[in-house]
Amino acid sequence: MAILGNKQEKTYDTGDLKVPVSLGVIMDGNGRWATKRHLPRSAGHRAGAENLKELCRNCGRYGVKYLTVYAFSTENWSRPEGEVDQLMKLFVEFFDRYDPELAEEGIRVRFTGDIEALPEKIREVCRTGEERSKDRPKMQLIVAFNYGGRREIVSSCRKIAEQVKAGTVDPADITEQMIADNLYLPDVPDPELIIRPSGEQRISNFLLWECAYSEFWVSDVLWPDFGYEELTQAFRDYALRDRRFGGLSKKESKK
Ligand code: FPP
Repeated sequence: MAILGNKQEKTYDTGDLKVPVSLGVIMDGNGRWATKRHLPRSAGHRAGAENLKELCRNCGRYGVKYLTVYAFSTENWSRPEGEVDQLMKLFVEFFDRYDPELAEEGIRVRFTGDIEALPEKIREVCRTGEERSKDRPKMQLIVAFNYGGRREIVSSCRKIAEQVKAGTVDPADITEQMIADNLYLPDVPDPELIIRPSGEQRISNFLLWECAYSEFWVSDVLWPDFGYEELTQAFRDYALRDRRFGGLSKKESKK
């Protein structure tokens, strides 16, 4: 068993862990975390945002290259207006407050989702955040905001349909690769591992196309409490997974 990395260090010991190049995290359980403490749900989201900053630091130091987090889904608009407003405010605050720390850790920020449909203030945060961080080398934090996996696939299909309409693509030539190439961020590798805290075991419209061969890791810990130890355990368990992509394991195929 590996000795846990020293949290004061800039890089962590990866010992018997496997660190994915691309990781997805569904940040679930903020509401339950707050309710358990007799606090308003908004306190849970605030604690969740604080924990996102910690996750970024830990992932960067473990050597993750792309971290995609689910911060607001296309379905989250159905929540009470007050909660939606608070999540929008938190989004603005997050980058104001934590960008210096993200910069110190070399973390570039990008956004995925139906960004054009968001209020101008939010789009401005996205533009500024991407622009000021674009040369940071260590890790990309990809924030899924107003994101839905189905909507992303529809958007890709529409772009391809435009090419069919223009006569530059024959429908018979449409491939999986073309759909992948027209997703929101086609240069971001599919997540090898997706983590979902808070006990739920579903994908909730997150990275539907990209998760085709992702490994899943679920935990009962609620998102605001999901820390370094849980992340380390996820990477330790991931090291034991046999990813076959529909084929045979390496051992079997040698027989
Ligand atoms: C799901 O938990 C969480 C969300 C809908 C919001 C996630 C947002 C954050 C962690 C912080 C915001 C981050 C940024 C960058 C703004 P839930 O509230 O549905 O939890 P529950 O299932 O316990 O009610």
